[in-house]
Amino acid sequence: MSVLGFLGSYFRRYWLWVLFAVAAAGLFAVATGALVVLIEPVFEEVLQTNPAEHEQTSGLVAAAGDKGNTVRSTVARLYQQVKDRLGVTEKSVVFFVPLLVIAVFTFRSLVAFISSYSFQHIGLGVTTDIRNSLYRRILEQSSRFHARHPSGELTSRIVNDIAMMQTAVSTRAVDLVQQSLTLLVLTVLLFLNNPSLAFVCAFGIPAVLFPIVRFGQGMRKTSYKSQERMADLANLVGEGARGHRVVKAFGMEDFEYRRFASATRRHLRVNLWASVLNSLSSPVIETMSVVGLSGLLVYAGLQIRSEVMSASGFIGFLFNLVWMYEPIRKLNKVNLVIQQSLAAVRRVKSLIDLPIEIADRPNAQVIPNVEADIAFESVSFAYTEQVVLKEVSLRIHKGEVVALVGPSGAGKSTLVNLLPRFFDPDSGCVRIDGIDIRDFTLESLRRLIGLVTQDTVLFNDTVRNNIAYGQETVALERIREAAAAAYADEFIMRLPQGYDTVIGESGLHLSGGQRQRLAIARALYKDAPILILDEATSQLDAESEALVQKALMNLMEGRTTLVIAHRLATVQIADRIAVLDAGRVVEEGKHRELLAGEGIYKRLYDLQFQE
Ligand SMILES: Nc1ncnc2c1ncn2[C@@H]1O[C@H](COP(=O)(O)OP(=O)(O)OP(=O)(O)O)[C@@H](O)[C@H]1O
Ligand SMILES: [Mg+2]
Repeated sequence: MSVLGFLGSYFRRYWLWVLFAVAAAGLFAVATGALVVLIEPVFEEVLQTNPAEHEQTSGLVAAAGDKGNTVRSTVARLYQQVKDRLGVTEKSVVFFVPLLVIAVFTFRSLVAFISSYSFQHIGLGVTTDIRNSLYRRILEQSSRFHARHPSGELTSRIVNDIAMMQTAVSTRAVDLVQQSLTLLVLTVLLFLNNPSLAFVCAFGIPAVLFPIVRFGQGMRKTSYKSQERMADLANLVGEGARGHRVVKAFGMEDFEYRRFASATRRHLRVNLWASVLNSLSSPVIETMSVVGLSGLLVYAGLQIRSEVMSASGFIGFLFNLVWMYEPIRKLNKVNLVIQQSLAAVRRVKSLIDLPIEIADRPNAQVIPNVEADIAFESVSFAYTEQVVLKEVSLRIHKGEVVALVGPSGAGKSTLVNLLPRFFDPDSGCVRIDGIDIRDFTLESLRRLIGLVTQDTVLFNDTVRNNIAYGQETVALERIREAAAAAYADEFIMRLPQGYDTVIGESGLHLSGGQRQRLAIARALYKDAPILILDEATSQLDAESEALVQKALMNLMEGRTTLVIAHRLATVQIADRIAVLDAGRVVEEGKHRELLAGEGIYKRLYDLQFQE
């Protein structure tokens, strides 16, 4: 799907608003045109600029009888009819025309509001939808996706890129539609008013604008160069100052000075050229403008003399011309923003388009009553190129506690993350009760697993909801039971609002041990048959360590547990210990057996557990 197709699928929902917005923008353009047309009657009838007004044959008012210029005479006739219908006399026309101007202007403001609001509505609506679907998509993605796209990048996509799209739609799209329609109407009017003069302008104005644009480009280029030269200077000074001993020792003062002087000379030259451009730009631009304007005056004067055009007609023409400046200026800006936001859309789209790696297989089944017997069968895994797990096989029988130990970076966390399918192994498979976990639905698989992660994740919500996270029923009795078993009840009750205290709100700082016990309470409340514990390495004081340890004991009771152990106490209560090193299981056995050997475990034990 192309970028436009992608955007289209979101805009489709807002088709009525799009219709509204475009229609209002069209009316805005027409109203702007009407204002320009009204300039002539203002000068002709209200200010009476044309000396022999009644005999004049070329003003808008007189154009009612004009056969040559049909559109102009139609407009003039229409205008005359309105005046006749309303009974506007020679005297009351002084009031009528300004009132008409007010009416048209008010209408123009109204449709401007409607079109601007409609575009805002579309912009905000579409970007809200895109934000939501992007976030949904991100939540569904595997850990491998999150490893490749750090949270900062995702935040920037959701916050900045989409905000960029929103400004583009909300403000620039208004300009794009409204101003290009206005420009169209004004251009048509300009040519209808006075075709030959319009042609002259069509060629004359670019000639005047050309030097302005060139000056702008030249100045940007020199200012860039000047900055570069400045950076050269800074580097030289830096080198000379830092290396002053070397410079002196080698007698290079003169050489360094000459190097610097030639750099300042280059800097000077660039800056002088910038000054030339700078001082020249205003005079040149002004002179060109005056020459252009004078040429226009000569042409107009001749036309007025030969009665092709009236003075009021010329004023109307000038107004028309001046009013075209605003749309051109705005449209000029639109381009840049649209380009930037299209790039943003492309980035967002590429993220949304990434396939979801971990999803239910077509005929995935709900896990039946489980024994919770887990087997990793020669699983290999790599986040990027480097292989993190190499053919790891490990069995955890029902009700068993297996401790995983190993040096930092050995792949312990990675291994346990395969069980809830945060990612799938590149080869090999993980089985529960002999069935490949990929044959189960994700939902039923994850319902089986209680998880306490290495870095405790708490959400900005009440304590109660943090403990009951993901559970449909939030029964306070059971929450308190879980908290009590996790040795958390006591400190929770001391919080300002007890279980209804919002965590993460300013001023509430839980200690590391308290956070861990909350996470344990969460796993207890979930009451899942399989438990994954990634023990935190954070240094707890002896007392909270003891509390956390007791809470963990309660948690492991009667569950099949895979625990990544950093504490001696945990290792000792494990039924079996597997030692992981550089992605391989290198030793396996009971604490005492492993200690008797002279392997990695012995070394780790000496290093880690013996202070
Ligand atoms: N998200 C990730 N993206 C890329 N590489 C990763 C990612 N997470 C871990 N790794 C790499 O995988 C290897 C194993 O990491 P893992 O977190 O499994 O180690 P660990 O045994 O749990 O270590 P620790 O005891 O410090 O928690 C490390 O080399 C690490 O750099
Ligand atoms: Mg880890």
